[in-house]
Amino acid sequence: MTSPDAQVTLAQALAWSVEALRDVSDTSRLDAEILLAHALGWSRVRVLSSLRETIPDETLQTFRALVQRRAAREPVAYLIGRKEFYGLEFIVDRRVLVPRPETETLVTAALEWARQRSAPHDTLLIADIGTGSGCIAVALAVHLPNALVYAIDLSADALAVARQNIELHSVASRVTLLCGDLLAPLPEPVDLLVSNPPYTVIDDIDAGVRLHEPHLALDGGNDGLAVYRRLLAASPQALRPDGALLLEIGAMQAEAVTDLVRQAFPTAAVRVLPDLAGRNRVVAVTVPPTP
Ligand SMILES: C[S@@+](CC[C@H](N)C(=O)[O-])C[C@H]1O[C@@H](n2cnc3c(N)ncnc32)[C@H](O)[C@@H]1O
Repeated sequence: MTSPDAQVTLAQALAWSVEALRDVSDTSRLDAEILLAHALGWSRVRVLSSLRETIPDETLQTFRALVQRRAAREPVAYLIGRKEFYGLEFIVDRRVLVPRPETETLVTAALEWARQRSAPHDTLLIADIGTGSGCIAVALAVHLPNALVYAIDLSADALAVARQNIELHSVASRVTLLCGDLLAPLPEPVDLLVSNPPYTVIDDIDAGVRLHEPHLALDGGNDGLAVYRRLLAASPQALRPDGALLLEIGAMQAEAVTDLVRQAFPTAAVRVLPDLAGRNRVVAVTVPPTP
């Protein structure tokens, strides 16, 4: 980039950072615009309409530091401290997995199931296992005013972030945070169990994700299925009759997870739902009305 003392325009700063990020990000231009907007405290639209303006020195230093961290593959969401999920803004940092757009498939499936249930006006009890940032629990609480949600995580650090998000979205009175292993802290059976559990094999994942996001959120054991096995073994006792279980899966895990579901719920109906890219993303299990 131009020498530190020269006046640098927004256009020049963007051009330099796109170059610096080209090898680490498929969205280098977008990343650069978001980071510049964050450093300036502006919207992205304002950045794009002010490209000939110069950047104050202090802001330029801040922006350079952000670009260097992004060049070391840190997620943009950690650098700006937030991420949009299901049309809502979430506070995120390195204590939680960055919410992924694929996970919106699970939220949509949960809302559809809730709208189609036989007693739609009754209080709906939901448990979100491995809540992380709380993105699923909060999105469900926001869209289902008659829902009470238990949001469970083994990581007390993650729950501290989830606490900020339930307060941000004013759902603290209907979302209860519980710390512990899978279903162990759940005080009662629920109508709907949802989970996006750790399901990757750590050695197989993208370097940026592996370097920066919490391994507890990612590590599904040697075959990626370790958490599904334990969660499914305990799920039948945690679900009320006529309930449902929705599990996010990796695109190649539909068959293996469906097999595990059939062992745990021999009489349940099981469907595999695709995400917007057409990849298998959610296993949906509906339990018969009588126990
Ligand atoms: C893939 S992340 C999902 C986070 C969030 N629900 C989302 O969709 O973005 C999995 C979460 O499960 C939590 N976790 C891992 N093992 C757990 C366990 N044994 N019991 C409870 N939570 C666990 C992790 O801390 C992490 O927050």
